[in-house]
Amino acid sequence: MKDSKSAPKFIAKHLLDIPRSGIRDFFDIVSTRKDVISLGIGEPDFVTPWHVREQAIFALDRGATSYTSNLGLLELRKAISKHLSKEIKVHYSPETEILVTVGVSEALDLAVRAITNPGDEVLYHEPCYVSYGPIITFTHGVPVPVTTTSENGFRLTRRMLEEKVTSKTRVLILNFPTNPTGGMLTPDDVRGIAKFAVKHDLLVITDEIYDTLVYDKKQFSIASLPGMKERTIYLNGFSKAYAMTGFRIGYSCAPAHITEAMMKIHQYTMLCAPILSQKAALEALNHGNTAMLEMREEYRKRRNFIHAALNEAGLKCHLPDGAFYAFPKIPACGMTSKEFALTLLDKENVACVPGTAFGPCGEGFIRCSYSTNMDEIKEATKRIARFVKGLKRR
Ligand SMILES: Cc1ncc(COP(=O)(O)O)c(C=O)c1O
Repeated sequence: MKDSKSAPKFIAKHLLDIPRSGIRDFFDIVSTRKDVISLGIGEPDFVTPWHVREQAIFALDRGATSYTSNLGLLELRKAISKHLSKEIKVHYSPETEILVTVGVSEALDLAVRAITNPGDEVLYHEPCYVSYGPIITFTHGVPVPVTTTSENGFRLTRRMLEEKVTSKTRVLILNFPTNPTGGMLTPDDVRGIAKFAVKHDLLVITDEIYDTLVYDKKQFSIASLPGMKERTIYLNGFSKAYAMTGFRIGYSCAPAHITEAMMKIHQYTMLCAPILSQKAALEALNHGNTAMLEMREEYRKRRNFIHAALNEAGLKCHLPDGAFYAFPKIPACGMTSKEFALTLLDKENVACVPGTAFGPCGEGFIRCSYSTNMDEIKEATKRIARFVKGLKRR
């Protein structure tokens, strides 16, 4: 912590040590250059399906410009409940257990704030989505990352968690498929982690925002295991599955008393998610499956291509099971991930995110997003191969 003399005036102390997102910093550099091929973007390159946009337009045309219930439109909560009963076989009451939020981002923030007391330890796996550590720190909780590795496809096991748990641990955050690694758990991993959560009386926050973008395996939600609904906050949203990042819409499902606690914060800070986005989300859930499957097929082709091309270029890369990210190891060249990414950008005009943006254990890796069209992926991987060849000749 910086001492108060050098600290910027007025800023709360606990914010001072939180760095800006490494992705943001890197893309500030990228934005100063022309004609960059970006494998850095963490959002779909598709536009939201037309029928979904159309419903938002119709709703606006009909004058849907008001607040909604704090929990969100009941019709949308009912559709979410029906969807989850089918997909993960868990019933959530639309009246008391579902909260519609401003993206999964808000749901995550509410979940951690609603259950973390100052000093509580929160376990999560790293490399991970950039927000987890900072959100825990915002609540005066203690972030406890658990390192996952490429050797086992960035899985998380009970044994790894047992090494990190203490009497102060209260919460475990899971994100499978994972941003940035594309890693997933086996059903046995999920069962082991559930037993771990019960043994240590932990609450689990499971961020399943990439659950539909799974290519060969099947998503297995921890919330669906016996005894887990009671201790799980299930988060999901529309940004990735339906290419709706700009709508800012997501949801949380949890036992009524937890939903009520999260709703209290949401009510006083956000009030409700935007009504037009809720209308669009309803359309996506009711009729968006075909478009979602088409996008997934395109991601699958790109995943297969980028995985092969990166390995051929000399960047050892596990096959991502889900999401739209490859997380290859950079070749031994004496550079850090950041130096590698910056030099690649400088020499070949290709942008990838340094692995350290996702935690210190991301050192030695870069994140290559394949939410970019196939022609660009082909050209980018060609340039990466040329760049790596040049490195070897040094
Ligand atoms: C793992 C993960 N969780 C949550 C989010 C935030 O999603 P939303 O757009 O719903 O706020 C992202 C966005 O990249 C993500 O990768």
